[in-house]
Amino acid sequence: MTKSPLKVPLISPSILSADFARLGEEVLAVEKAGADWIHVDVMDGHFVPNLTLGAPVLQSLKPATRLPLDVHLMIEEPERYVVDFARAGATYLTFHIEASRDPGQLIQTIRKNGMRPGITLKPVTPILELKPWITLVDLVLVMTVNPGFSGQTFMHDQLEKVSQVRGWLGADSPTRLQVDGGINAETGRLCWDAGADVFVAGNAVFKKRSGGSYNAAINALKEMG
Ligand code: DX5
Ligand code: ZN
Repeated sequence: MTKSPLKVPLISPSILSADFARLGEEVLAVEKAGADWIHVDVMDGHFVPNLTLGAPVLQSLKPATRLPLDVHLMIEEPERYVVDFARAGATYLTFHIEASRDPGQLIQTIRKNGMRPGITLKPVTPILELKPWITLVDLVLVMTVNPGFSGQTFMHDQLEKVSQVRGWLGADSPTRLQVDGGINAETGRLCWDAGADVFVAGNAVFKKRSGGSYNAAINALKEMG
């Protein structure tokens, strides 16, 4: 099954690949260059072997952009931080199925706190584990690398999961189907053809600084539509 022909790809640059000393400027620059959302990777050094940032950084970034803040939690006990991320201004709050004891309850709590719930899984986790929750969330994220670091190689074997979820959602579903990890113009197109509609891109956007512009990088990704 494919998406509705009316859909256009949305690009969510991941600030993990940005210059952290100039984060506000970086976010504004990608907004001006045509980004649709801003992807914020939260890692705790336990769920994944890397540490990044938390709600205080998100709160500081909030006034720097009008774009939706797309927060990807790669942390144990995501339940503990819902209120913090709501206060900090998250639009989407996506958690890993492997980290939650009660996904149904967590989805409700995220919504009650005024955010849009998203759910995701590691490449090793069977896609069937997400199936009971996909009608309850606003976003399903299929990871196309092992979470933890930017700049990794796209895992082609995850494309099957994208097609599977699109089949479950149906072509016209308002639920977003996002991919994250190793996305560039070429791998993004494969995901688009499999049914994805939101594309996280770290290196493909922010590492273009020396060569082309952010605008060129984002336009190249959007051409898949
Ligand atoms: C990986 C993160 C990704 C990462 C993407 O754990 O969830 O969002 O920043 O970076 P690229 O696009 O460089 O693979
Ligand atoms: Zn991410």
